[in-house]
Amino acid sequence: MSDTDRHPFLSGLSKHRGAQPTCVVIFGASGDLAARKLLPALYNLAVDSLLPSDFHLIGFGRKPIPDAEFRTQAATDIKKFSRREFRPDIWQRVEDNTSYQSGGYDDPKAYAALKEQIAAAEKRAGRPLQLVFYVSTPPSVFEPILENLGQSGLAGRGLGTELESKVIIEKPFGKDLDSAVHLNAVAARNFRESQIFRIDHYLGKETVQDLLVLRFANPIFEPLWNRRHVDHVQITVAEELGVGTRGGYYDGSGATRDMLQNHTMQLLALVAMEQPRSLSAEHIRDEKVKLLESIQPLRLGVNADAVRAQYAEGLSGGDKVPGYLTEKDIPQDSATETFCALRFSIENSRWSGVPFYMRSGKRLARRVSEIAIQFKQPESGLFAGDARYDLAPNRLVIQIQPDEGTTLVLNSKVPGLEPRTQPVRLSFRYATTYGSNTPEAYERLILDGIVGDRTLFIRGDETEASWRLFTPLLQSWQEQGRAGMETYAAGSWGPAGGDALLGAHGHAWRNAGR
Ligand code: BG6
Repeated sequence: MSDTDRHPFLSGLSKHRGAQPTCVVIFGASGDLAARKLLPALYNLAVDSLLPSDFHLIGFGRKPIPDAEFRTQAATDIKKFSRREFRPDIWQRVEDNTSYQSGGYDDPKAYAALKEQIAAAEKRAGRPLQLVFYVSTPPSVFEPILENLGQSGLAGRGLGTELESKVIIEKPFGKDLDSAVHLNAVAARNFRESQIFRIDHYLGKETVQDLLVLRFANPIFEPLWNRRHVDHVQITVAEELGVGTRGGYYDGSGATRDMLQNHTMQLLALVAMEQPRSLSAEHIRDEKVKLLESIQPLRLGVNADAVRAQYAEGLSGGDKVPGYLTEKDIPQDSATETFCALRFSIENSRWSGVPFYMRSGKRLARRVSEIAIQFKQPESGLFAGDARYDLAPNRLVIQIQPDEGTTLVLNSKVPGLEPRTQPVRLSFRYATTYGSNTPEAYERLILDGIVGDRTLFIRGDETEASWRLFTPLLQSWQEQGRAGMETYAAGSWGPAGGDALLGAHGHAWRNAGR
């Protein structure tokens, strides 16, 4: 076995160099995600010479759009959203093999036409292509797309060979446990699990990939990473923006489904799981599932482990901004939360008794995603109990974004003749160490989809384990309607209840950046 086989997690690039001739089909090709993320990601992979030498792109959507118009629009989107400058010579090579297919997502005729387009691409290539279907549509049409890919025979192409078809499925993967189980069953009827790539773009972020390295390539942390030394863990995924033009989608979702059930739970799983037996996709995902299954059900009702709130009008970046209920496409009596804070307990020998807090919201004070591991307050020792010594608990802060990096808070002697200490920060920043133009999450994930590496994608049982934790909470909120919904001023750090959730245990949110 070569090193590459044993360590797919760290060797995606070298594996990719010999990638199969591929045709990526984007369902929802005229949508927002394609414009902002998927097309720019493909362009950046082309800049890095990481697309297979034979690469074809087919956009699929309901709207009839001539090929030429789709290509021009793609170039416009790339110019607007790519992290790197647009180079026409590079895009030209992709563009030459780019076409568009319109049709209903539930219309078998559209899939017959798609097959013809694929056949034409294969004729141009002079060989069969691996098919990678990227489902980036509203979730209401996930099911007909998966079924039609199955029935048309496209899903079954090349099974068991290097050209096996693959399907990348965007979030949200279900809206509760039952719908996730159903969607898994639909996917399994049409694809093998080895062909299915459920996306969570947080897993493609460099800082999230680094969590495994931080934890398991730095053995100094392992002896401390447990209930004896860790007081609690805080995970914050805060956004400054409001719902903007996505009100129609967001109001049917809310912060808990949109961010916590997927993105923040993945962060929690990676921080708290046991060391996997290897870096293989299955071993890593086995450990995440084990961890998710050892989380206790959330307490509802009195002393609930959950707080929800909506933003009211306030100031964001110095500008007055409206409250959630007056945003575009939001019903005035909406019971959808734009903020959610939770307290989880993990029942295993490593974490029993250590609270894991997480929160996410729109229109918070600042855009910041971070994981803070708060170690125990020094209770005894040479400096404890003396007011001259300002002793802070040690804290390891992993900043996912922006200003990516890791900080360790230590106590230090203040220089001078007075006996004084103060907390200081030992800090590593990506921008200073590595430069700032690192690949976007979608580049990594599309690349991994093409080479068939599922490490950074969610397995079916994983998504169900997460929904199992969230579904009773979401059901109880649905029954309550707006009763118990708090508000917070846009531009603040969230509602009072979010603070009280920690305050009840003698903790406080580290309002990021402090
Ligand atoms: C998406 C959510 O999954 O993640 C959005 O649907 C959210 O509501 C976005 O804004 C945040 O992603 P990032 O990468 O900007 O933190």
